[in-house]
Amino acid sequence: MGFIEDISTATDIIRNADAVTLVSHIDADGITAEAIAAQAISRLGIPVTPVFVRQLEPLTMRHVPNDDTLKIFTDLGAGQQNLMEEAGLSSDNVLILDHHINQPAPGGTVYPQVNSQFYGQEYAKCSAAGVTYMVARKLDPANADLADLAVVGNVGDMMARETCGLVGIARWIADDGVGSGRVRITKGLNCYGLSTRPLHLCLANSDDPLLPGISGDPKAAIDLLIRLGIYEKPSDQRVWEELHADEAKLLASVVAEQMIANGESTERLFAELYFFPHETEKSPLRNASEYATMLNACGRWAKPKIGTAVCFGDRGQQYREAEHMLRHHRSIIRELCEYILDTGVADAGSIQWIHTGDSYPDTIVGIGAGMALSKLDTTKPIMVLCSVSDEPDLVKISMRTYEKVLRCGVDLQAALVTAAAEFNGAGGGHNIAAGAYIPKGCEDDFIRRVNELIAGQLTAGAPHR
Ligand code: C5P
Ligand code: C5P
Ligand code: C5P
Repeated sequence: MGFIEDISTATDIIRNADAVTLVSHIDADGITAEAIAAQAISRLGIPVTPVFVRQLEPLTMRHVPNDDTLKIFTDLGAGQQNLMEEAGLSSDNVLILDHHINQPAPGGTVYPQVNSQFYGQEYAKCSAAGVTYMVARKLDPANADLADLAVVGNVGDMMARETCGLVGIARWIADDGVGSGRVRITKGLNCYGLSTRPLHLCLANSDDPLLPGISGDPKAAIDLLIRLGIYEKPSDQRVWEELHADEAKLLASVVAEQMIANGESTERLFAELYFFPHETEKSPLRNASEYATMLNACGRWAKPKIGTAVCFGDRGQQYREAEHMLRHHRSIIRELCEYILDTGVADAGSIQWIHTGDSYPDTIVGIGAGMALSKLDTTKPIMVLCSVSDEPDLVKISMRTYEKVLRCGVDLQAALVTAAAEFNGAGGGHNIAAGAYIPKGCEDDFIRRVNELIAGQLTAGAPHR
């Protein structure tokens, strides 16, 4: 079936529900998908009960009630239909809104699903929040006021990273947000922290693109900004968003010149940026990538409902708590990234790996892996293993790689699903970012097996698309 038909089926299922249980994932995409669905469904007068899980696995399945409510799974579920089937969930009261690779239920139960991976290139780079937004939009065009949340979900799940901007249906959603006044699209520096970080730190922290003479050197960035008249003195704290158009243009052209002089491509220097004009200037909610980090900070540290409150518009006590979570999250991620780089990764041949033990929660090691990888050998996928605090018999696996490695045939989701199954674990995710849980004790064999599978994928070569 096509996208339009699947969206129509989903809206029919929702309209016929008496009550909904919304099961969602604890990251920025999961929280925004939940916030979009919860608001759209409540607006129909249907009661909604939210349930957040770090992942659908046998232990967390007990939070999913087997009752008469319609269970809507957002940002998870496509890869765990076996667990739904085992739990006896009927296809009559399940709806999956997802973007993870589909793994059909072994017993043949077919759960209704809208999954952006089903409909070809135009849809593929759309996160679960984007899929959920399209369903909400079909339920009632007035739900277009939720477009900013869908943009946060898409950007949070890195849908804009490779292409320096959203594409396909995710781009359409951003445009829809422009139409409803919720989103402002602009072109600018492809750096993180454009609304909140003093400009010299924003530039100095950039590693993709690498800015010659500036990346890793805040002092050099300050000198440049003073030379251009953008900073008056070294202690200035202006952010990119505060620059006048001519200042932004001047900065961009000077940085571009420096890149060209160093023989670097300027291809990734500029990106399409998504700002939210209704949010307070210089706040983390002002642009999509910083908003997403705030939601990740809430969800990955076990307070997804604080993130939901922010998405629902709380700018009081819950927002202040979210700010606190964000500060904490940033400092721990920074520490984790340093830990990985200082300790060093082991080279297994086709992958590099590190075990972080119980030093960091399993919910954040994937983010740390992604950030550390930019400073490691980017041609080899990274695997981080860690313990799971409330499940001592399990080990959590997170893997990350780059699009250029996918083009050589690598598929992390496929490798982890195969290897995890062989060791009585379970894995899922995307070709570029995947995770798994495996029983403790088999880590060495597991690393060897994943390495072997990735080596095999590289030998087989690029996928035919
Ligand atoms: O479960 P989920 O899809 O939400 O996982 C999100 C994680 O995977 C994020 O850390 C995100 O950075 C990463 N990801 C990615 N590229 C994608 C999809 C997800 O890096 N295309
Ligand atoms: O710069 P800082 O160390 O504070 O950044 C850490 C946090 O910012 C992390 O939570 C990370 O997710 C987010 N970040 C990001 N993208 C970047 C840089 C930082 O999402 N390019
Ligand atoms: O946890 P992490 O951020 O590394 O997860 C990367 C991707 O793998 C996410 O999309 C997540 O939903 C998925 N994943 C999964 N099954 C697991 C662990 C992670 O599908 N057991």
